Amino acid sequence: MIQIAVMGHGVVGSGVTEILLNHTESIAKKVKEEIYIKKVLDLREFPDSPIADRFTKDFNEIVSDDEISVVVEVMGGLKPAYDFVKQCLESGKSVVTSNKELVAAKGAELLAIAEEKNVNFLFEASVGGAIPIIRPLHQCLAANDIEKINGILNGTTNFILNKMINDNMSFEDALKLAQDKGYAERNPAADIEGHDACRKICILASLVYGTHVYPESVHTEGITKVSLKDVEYARAWGGAVKLIASARKNGDKQEIITAPMFVSSDCQLSNVDGVYNELLVRGDSSGTIGFYGRGAGKLPTASAVVADVMDCVLHKDERRNIMWKDGSGENVLPYEGYVNAMYVLAEADDTDAALAKANEIFGECEKITRPGADAREAAFITGELSYSDFTAKCAEFAKYAEVQSTIRIAKI
Ligand code: HSE
Repeated sequence: MIQIAVMGHGVVGSGVTEILLNHTESIAKKVKEEIYIKKVLDLREFPDSPIADRFTKDFNEIVSDDEISVVVEVMGGLKPAYDFVKQCLESGKSVVTSNKELVAAKGAELLAIAEEKNVNFLFEASVGGAIPIIRPLHQCLAANDIEKINGILNGTTNFILNKMINDNMSFEDALKLAQDKGYAERNPAADIEGHDACRKICILASLVYGTHVYPESVHTEGITKVSLKDVEYARAWGGAVKLIASARKNGDKQEIITAPMFVSSDCQLSNVDGVYNELLVRGDSSGTIGFYGRGAGKLPTASAVVADVMDCVLHKDERRNIMWKDGSGENVLPYEGYVNAMYVLAEADDTDAALAKANEIFGECEKITRPGADAREAAFITGELSYSDFTAKCAEFAKYAEVQSTIRIAKI
């Protein structure tokens, strides 16, 4: 019998215990041992839980228990998760986590401790919820140079954008609904400001390029400035606004960014609905591969966590060799140099004159119109240019029109 502990009994943690209790026999058959939850750490009381007698508020009961060999961390955040996980690894316990903030901030350090102690530190659930992505990138696509990864990696923002587009729901109501459904982070600013998606692309980039990418090195924009007008212009242009997390190889460095982008309807990312996530990974030999599924929520995320626990049991004597080295951000190229076409929405008394100026300043632009537009609106798409070139030209254009929004056109 393998004894484990689960730290955190929130949305994901309760899903982990539910799956382990409901599938005890089938899981035991697959890993050839019973997995027994010895302790659950949470500061709250859960008297109705079928394992209420195994709850503790004291972390020491877990870290000092030599019978517990695998610890699941599903508390989220860095404090106290980082200290707890580090202590567990140092005590020779394998750790499984869904905590992307932890992996994005401390992954290189925790992986090094796991290697030193010959235990596992696994985090499949930290990116894409139920979608298998860490193992496929680490194993199945290992023979490739990964040229680029583009994805919708945050279910909450995708859910909100969909509700705004399809149901005309306000941003606030859609966010509340996402929170009620258990998709949003404890502090939903992490979702809507893009930090959650940024952390996930950092984890993937660290994994495939071999050097830790810290979120501070990655330019990140959320969806709070995306207006219903932008959403309508994206549709009129022939696509949708999506929060895209992107990493692409450029020489021996990478371009990594998280930002709302116009995605053409030719690209399958434009059709990803609700809480679903999708990643498109392009390997030099494999070509493009898509990974699609539920990116958040109790059981989808817990399913990836439990599979990692099972992997720890199966590989307790021969650890999984997922590793990357530490880095200081020098491998991430400055975002001002990334090249995209840009959508611009402006207001002017004379929109024809404003559009003529846009053509003069940016080069030939594609005008877009939307049904029911205000007479003062002028919207267009520029040709491809670097972001620094764009901002300089935009400052010039702002002398002739009031710029309301600018959004990148995705290069998937
Ligand atoms: N808040 C995250 C999301 C949860 O909405 O995608 C899953 O990481």
